[in-house]
Amino acid sequence: MKRPMRICFVCLGNICRSPLALAIARHVAEEEGLAPRLHLDSAGLGDWHIGKPADPRTIAVAERFGLDLSSHRARQIQPDELASWDWLVAMDADNREGLLALGANPARVIMMRAPEGEPAPDVPDPYWDGDAGFVRVHRMLARNMPPLLQMLLQSA
Ligand code: 4NP
Repeated sequence: MKRPMRICFVCLGNICRSPLALAIARHVAEEEGLAPRLHLDSAGLGDWHIGKPADPRTIAVAERFGLDLSSHRARQIQPDELASWDWLVAMDADNREGLLALGANPARVIMMRAPEGEPAPDVPDPYWDGDAGFVRVHRMLARNMPPLLQMLLQSA
């Protein structure tokens, strides 16, 4: 059997968007029988929240949809791991630029909302928003995750 495809979801702080994306991806992978084919993780570009749990608003919206983020601890992506990922999934265009600035291969960076077409819209940073922003982020992630995983698996 082929080794699992390695996919890392990347945002700025690794406390809002990418941990939620990871939890949704794991849920979709389980539901669709794709889990054995995928190795999934998340990371942030910034160092402000290293070792911290997800934002309480992220945990709350995840819980509403039956997802448990209690074991998440934020981490910062390291330049020496970039080449180990088959795909780096950027939440927004700034995250994409940040990954490229660290040395990521542009052909291995894809936008989270790529299934919606080119140019892919951003998953907007909800950190400075109220709770409604987190619900909107959840909706964008949940809508795009099944087609995104299919796109990536078909690329192998
Ligand atoms: P995330 O949200 O990138 O979706 O985790 C943010 C979290 C924290 C900050 C920015 C965005 N911050 O500036 O601390």
